[in-house]
Amino acid sequence: MTRENLRINGQRLIDRLKALGEVGALPGGGVCRLALTDDDRAGRDLVTGWMRNLGLSVTTDAIGNVFGLRAGTEDGPPVMTGSHIDTVRTGGLYDGNLGVLAGLEVVETLNDLGITTRRPLCVAFFTNEEGARFAPDMMGSLVYVGGMPLDEALAVEGIDGTTVGDCLNAIDAAGPASVGAPEVHAFVELHIEQGPVLEEQGVTIGAVGMVQGISWTEFTITGTSNHAGTTPMRLRHDAGYVAMATATFARDLATRMGGHQVSTVGSFELKPNLVNVVANHARFTVDLRNTDEALLQQAEAEVMAVVTSLAAAEGVEVTHRSLARFAPVAFHPGMVAKVEATAKGLGHSVMRMPSGAGHDAQMLARVCPTAMVFVPSVHGISHNIHEHTAPADLEAGANVLLRVLVDLAE
Ligand code: GLV
Ligand code: MN
Ligand code: MN
Repeated sequence: MTRENLRINGQRLIDRLKALGEVGALPGGGVCRLALTDDDRAGRDLVTGWMRNLGLSVTTDAIGNVFGLRAGTEDGPPVMTGSHIDTVRTGGLYDGNLGVLAGLEVVETLNDLGITTRRPLCVAFFTNEEGARFAPDMMGSLVYVGGMPLDEALAVEGIDGTTVGDCLNAIDAAGPASVGAPEVHAFVELHIEQGPVLEEQGVTIGAVGMVQGISWTEFTITGTSNHAGTTPMRLRHDAGYVAMATATFARDLATRMGGHQVSTVGSFELKPNLVNVVANHARFTVDLRNTDEALLQQAEAEVMAVVTSLAAAEGVEVTHRSLARFAPVAFHPGMVAKVEATAKGLGHSVMRMPSGAGHDAQMLARVCPTAMVFVPSVHGISHNIHEHTAPADLEAGANVLLRVLVDLAE
């Protein structure tokens, strides 16, 4: 085989996806490997074992990012690919995992053919991309690019009250490599789309031009508990009501704004959470996203104005804290064009598209030319155990990744 007809082994890629999907497997399918849990550790061990078997030299940094380096004929910063292997609580087998395991499949393909690229190659997985347990999302790659001080990341408290630092220690996931090493020449991430667009358009490959802005805010409302039967409506200080009305407003806001505006209240709790007690405490999150930074700011301002006025009218206290805030990120035009041309050259249908989800690539874009390759998600379902991508599409995406990486490394 020559460099002109390079092809990955689709079955080998699927076998690794399935094997990693066994770690933290959920009844009925899917997987739960929340960041820095014992299951995350088992997933890390499996993937780093594969890296070593493929001859990669493995380094781990202080936030637990793992880098598998394949030497080139010349030294210098590697061409990097990768993603994450942590998942949400109701994760599928592909989100993140595909990008990492396709990177390993690229390496194995090159090993089989005895091809050494000019520049080194690197397959990485970054800690806590999901942000589901510890905010913000993309934490490992954010620290790697210098966007968050290590100490600050280690001190982040998760949804269960533990800290990133303690959990890194507990699963022995931190390593001695300095944060920011290795430097990177260029970064390409293969990922499932996680949305419906490619499937709806009947297109196999997405050349991702940008990632939309992300705004996560946690609101805490403090009111007064009282009897549900005896307390007149005019005398209530109902934290639950203010939370629910704000959540409903946020949903309607996205519908009203239209375009790329989306809005999600994904975490919501009331105390004392009883049928006949007015809630004295509510805590909920608002996830707002838009491709347009000005519109995202407008959405944030509207939610803030509404929660503030509802709280004043109800006589409750509201506090808020930002869990994550990232402006929209444009990828490198030349890199996006390369993904598009490579997909076309392989005979695949391809379209340019924004990413609705956050990705490690949006952090890497701060330090090197970066692009992403998307493949379709069946019914646009993700963060769900039924997340699925057809084997032929996995293979197509991995072949595009292979060609783009080899091209960048030559
Ligand atoms: C990460 O998966 C995100 O929430 O976009
Ligand atoms: Mn992901
Ligand atoms: Mn995800």
